[in-house]
Amino acid sequence: MKLKTLYVCSNCAYQATKWMGKCPECEAWNSFAEETVNVGKTDKISSVARRLTTEKAVSILNVGAIKERAKTGIEEFDLVAGGGIVDGSLILLSGEPGIGKSTLTMQILDKMAAQKGSVLYVTGEESVEQVSARAKRLGAAHENIKLLYETNLENIIAAVESEKPEFLVLDSIQVMASEAIPGMAGAISQVRYVTESIMSLIKTKKISTLLIGHVNKEGNLAGPKVLEHLVDAVFLLEGERDQSLRLLRSVKNRYGTVNEVGMFEMDSNGLQELRNPAEKILQNRPVNSFGSCLTITMEGNRPILMEVQALVNTSPFGYPKRAASGFDRNRLELLIAVIEKHTDLSLSDKDVYINITGGLHLKDPAADLAVCMAIASSLKKKPLAENLVFFGEIGLAGEIRKTVQEDSRRKAIKKIAMLPAENTKFLRNSIAQI
Ligand code: TYD
Ligand code: MG
Repeated sequence: MKLKTLYVCSNCAYQATKWMGKCPECEAWNSFAEETVNVGKTDKISSVARRLTTEKAVSILNVGAIKERAKTGIEEFDLVAGGGIVDGSLILLSGEPGIGKSTLTMQILDKMAAQKGSVLYVTGEESVEQVSARAKRLGAAHENIKLLYETNLENIIAAVESEKPEFLVLDSIQVMASEAIPGMAGAISQVRYVTESIMSLIKTKKISTLLIGHVNKEGNLAGPKVLEHLVDAVFLLEGERDQSLRLLRSVKNRYGTVNEVGMFEMDSNGLQELRNPAEKILQNRPVNSFGSCLTITMEGNRPILMEVQALVNTSPFGYPKRAASGFDRNRLELLIAVIEKHTDLSLSDKDVYINITGGLHLKDPAADLAVCMAIASSLKKKPLAENLVFFGEIGLAGEIRKTVQEDSRRKAIKKIAMLPAENTKFLRNSIAQI
């Protein structure tokens, strides 16, 4: 083994001999960390091994269908997984710390335990007492679940070999490390090595496995590109920690589409499926109050009703404040500029605050119109009709543009007994109707 110190980008695993402020590969800032890597001649060995493989090429027509899937029974999860967990697949569940990954995993594991003989939860973050207490509180402590506190890869492999679980959880990949290579847990080389080792272990033994991985502040997993290539599926759990709504998104799925989105709500009994999120949004909506506008946003294939709230006040200072939570601030500035230029409203001396209720981020351009309508409604102090849902992208000429998946949106609006607002051609006409 020949060791060498290198600087490795924690985002894309780009290697450099010197420290750099910005990664030339993925353009991430301040992402380089010092690592000791093995630059010995391991390539030769693996190429010999590769020559010894016994796999034969087969005709594309003779290949069987995808293997068995195990439905967890948590529908919102099964949907994202493409119908269930494919036997022997490696899934990476990522998300910010504290967002609910361990909670969701425990609930999934409980369901899997009921179907499979034995399942193993390896925790390297919380003690088995903590994990067990939470599982019991959630009512997710099936007798087939075994817990193991371990961070050493070699010990984990030994445990898997003796326990022979049919479903395996590693919580989390960032705290697991191998003795075989240098570097601390969480370093790119360790994360990659542990994942690769687990991958080859579970593929030969056909154990479905869920790896938990934290994402950093920027939303990146340590070494996301490296891991994304290795695993079969990457699911991302999103939301705001102090809010209850959670979105489960598929970032990659070798056994399904990446357009499905699952919705959950975090309460004192863990994550609850939100089959009908519109109900919740509408329940909490203030009645007959100005500055609130409904919109329908597409998350993959799923239309989701959301409420945009705006607050417009005369600014006490010369420089008006514009703030947005759950919405891009630059987009807000642009929309305000369009309102200024193309409608009768004046916002140059007004503070504008935007909030998307529920703690979700509204990225769909179709939300533009709702943001503008909420602003106009607040400025004019006139509420919008309660059953109207606004959607449409705003162009720089003040025009309202058609959006993608218009039919799905209309259908979804109809389903909750609401009406799609009839869009005029120009924003000024829609605003004049308030
Ligand atoms: P957790 O699953 O531990 O997050 P992660 O594994 O992603 O770091 O969830 C932690 C948060 O979830 C914690 O702040 C409390 C909250 N929570 C609930 O609100 N209800 C519950 O039933 C549970 C188990 C957690
Ligand atoms: Mg956790």
